Amino acid sequence: MANTRTSSRKQQHVEITLSKDVSFRGKTTGFERFEFLHNAIPELNFSEIDTAVTFLGKKLAFPLIISSMTGGYKDAQRINRHLAEVCAEKRLAMGVGSQRQAMEDSTYHRSFSVVREVAKDIPVFGNIGAAEVAQLKDASKVQRLANLVRADGFAVHLNPLQEFLQPEGSPDFRGVLRGIELLVKQLSIPVLVKEIGAGISADVAKRLIDVGVRIIDVAGAGGTSWAGVEIIRRNEKNGKWNNGKKRGEKESFAAAFWDWGIPTVDALRQVSSLKSQTPGLTVISSGGISGGMDVAKSIAFGADLAGAARPLLKILESGGTKAMIRKVDSWIMQVKGAMFLTGSRTIQDLQQRQLVLRAQ
Ligand SMILES: Cc1cc2nc3c(=O)[nH]c(=O)nc-3n(C[C@H](O)[C@H](O)[C@H](O)COP(=O)(O)O)c2cc1C
Repeated sequence: MANTRTSSRKQQHVEITLSKDVSFRGKTTGFERFEFLHNAIPELNFSEIDTAVTFLGKKLAFPLIISSMTGGYKDAQRINRHLAEVCAEKRLAMGVGSQRQAMEDSTYHRSFSVVREVAKDIPVFGNIGAAEVAQLKDASKVQRLANLVRADGFAVHLNPLQEFLQPEGSPDFRGVLRGIELLVKQLSIPVLVKEIGAGISADVAKRLIDVGVRIIDVAGAGGTSWAGVEIIRRNEKNGKWNNGKKRGEKESFAAAFWDWGIPTVDALRQVSSLKSQTPGLTVISSGGISGGMDVAKSIAFGADLAGAARPLLKILESGGTKAMIRKVDSWIMQVKGAMFLTGSRTIQDLQQRQLVLRAQ
């Protein structure tokens, strides 16, 4: 039988992120503070510009990941199929959502495995939360989840803010780093560690690097507020989201955390600064990436790839795969434009470009 609690929570997350405004309110990613230094003699033919990169051993046409979102309930199979179709068509990478539900029972396994059925050649990564990782005795359960999606990598999401605010959360993070180290040592594929919208600092990144992690997705603040999602779940008056439980006075503390987190640009700059002393460190910029210019600026700040979740899901759900492909195409043109106007033929060239503070 399906574990209905985990399953219905995953469904609520999709419904709330699509129907409510769960953006940060008083904080931005910080990308708008910067602009490229224009190069009036780029010495390039636009047609030579090459946005290809390699990620998890596979070639991508464009440095973009559809960030971990869903799986584990009925309709997730349709969503993941469509996301995977877009990734296959545009040669992007994709993460599946938390596979905790698939660990508990097999009812919705296909909502995860459908990604590989549709997208045979792209990099795909599995996903599990820190709270589960802290409990691991060995990597066998997670290896099975990786095998389910024939994954090229496996993501652990760090979500202390969400666990703290979630009515059914597990705010016990003792043993998370040990669990991550165990996965790094025992899984057959690389481990990726991501936040979900509150950011990873240089200090946290160093602790991850020390236990062998070489792929870090900063997933900073300024895009989707997961505190916001959980506050809405807690407060929904009609009890639809909180299973009819009466709201208590203690709920009111939660609002103060809506904007908690490190803005994406700040997290990205902190974590990218560790690249010079950490050979092979791959840095992913995500959290509020809302266009090609954010992707281009991320690369110039040292990211190897960017990731986006809610903005692309919203387009998929309102306009279908065609609309999502049109959106990705426009992001690609924006990145290519920024590359042309900064004299960058390749993504590696763009990583060397300068961003300047915008005049206020
Ligand atoms: C509907 C939805 C479900 C999500 N579920 C997961 C998840 O299961 N595991 C995870 O690591 N991140 C999850 N995320 C977080 C995203 O991967 C991402 O880190 C975060 O939303 C910030 O990116 P954005 O501002 O582009 O949305 C989810 C995001 C959305 C929108």
